[in-house]
Amino acid sequence: MRLAALAVAVLLFGCGDPQPGAAQLARGGKLYAQHCAACHGAKLEGQPNWRQPLPNGRMPAPPHDESGHTWHHTDAVLFGITKHGMAGYAPPGYQSDMPGFAGTLSDEEIRAVLAFIASHWKTKALLEARAEMIRNAKR
Ligand code: HEC
Repeated sequence: MRLAALAVAVLLFGCGDPQPGAAQLARGGKLYAQHCAACHGAKLEGQPNWRQPLPNGRMPAPPHDESGHTWHHTDAVLFGITKHGMAGYAPPGYQSDMPGFAGTLSDEEIRAVLAFIASHWKTKALLEARAEMIRNAKR
């Protein structure tokens, strides 16, 4: 049964297709619920008042939906933040509650979670702005 479903997924979505397949998104959704939702929200809505620093000076978890700024980052940066945390993307000594998942999730699992998150970005203007940002980042 599972093999048949996999075969169908491979037929429908192709091997090496850069577009995420349904199987990858389902896997990413499960991993998101397990590893990210506690902080970033079950609906990717982030913590309340996420723009205001917490009493301890650290930032709350931002939303991953269109209202946040996750989509402003390239895939490579999102992968790096998820794998290693904010270190390397913030000034030295910056304190953050975002954990690195290097020991918890495989690279493939990280890509699945990020594909799941990206599947929530649908507005045409947002997708165009993101494509433009990625073009500029490659220059
Ligand atoms: C313990 C709470 C916590 C968990 C669990 C968590 N995060 Fe975060 N995350 C944060 C916080 C807090 C920030 C904001 C960090 C900062 O600005 O210092 C953040 C920031 C991020 C950012 C940067 C967003 C941006 O717009 O700059 C990404 C990407 C991210 N998290 C992805 C994930 C993913 C994917 C998972 C699950 C695999 C996850 N996080 C799990 C707390 C968490």
